[in-house]
Amino acid sequence: KNGIQVAIDGPASAGKSTVAKLVAKRFKYVYCDTGAMYRVVTLAALEKGIAPDDTDQISRLAQQISISFAPGDPEQQVFLDGREVTTAIRQAEIDQNVSAVAAIPAVRREMTNQQRTIASQGGIVMDGRDIGTTVLPDAPVKIFMVATAYERARRRYVENKAKGIATASLADLQKEIELRDQKDSSRKVSPLVQAPDAVRLDTTDLTIDQVVDRISVIIKKTL
Ligand code: C5P
Repeated sequence: KNGIQVAIDGPASAGKSTVAKLVAKRFKYVYCDTGAMYRVVTLAALEKGIAPDDTDQISRLAQQISISFAPGDPEQQVFLDGREVTTAIRQAEIDQNVSAVAAIPAVRREMTNQQRTIASQGGIVMDGRDIGTTVLPDAPVKIFMVATAYERARRRYVENKAKGIATASLADLQKEIELRDQKDSSRKVSPLVQAPDAVRLDTTDLTIDQVVDRISVIIKKTL
């Protein structure tokens, strides 16, 4: 097989997907945004009028829908049953409900299975919350990316504006991010936690290029 598994985990808006995409490009690896998958399940549930706490119906839904990715510019496109939902899954309503959906054990089981299948192809950079701990526990490179809540909210604010997504105020974004981290860290199944063998990377004062470079050095040492 050509290429290794690179697991990038961390709290919301720590810059994981931006960096993971660039690292994947540099090494010609596949990139997989696992957060987008939980977002698609959440969107499907909301569209069907299923309440985020209806675990039975959402568990069934997660098994029925098809989630897929395709290369796109400027970002990777995401599809729900063949329909493009790249922007739809970034709405505030999804931010507010995704942690509840992602806490459902059967949803996690289904997503984890699909993610392992995607990763079995070869060189992969996968970002999320539980990649190093649960999805790919044998990944030779594990990064745990962190940054202050203020800096993460600031980045999300700038990103939303650039993408033309209706955005809350900076203060409200920070509150939403902190609440989501708290939910993700305290759930029973695969909570957000640093794997013991992960390298912790505080990106608060680093540029995107600096973070990509540091991770690239770690990968090259491992190859
Ligand atoms: O990465 P992103 O912020 O898009 O993830 C959205 C949500 O999906 C997270 O807040 C978390 O609840 C869930 N998630 C997860 N496990 C992952 C990736 C995301 O539970 N591996």
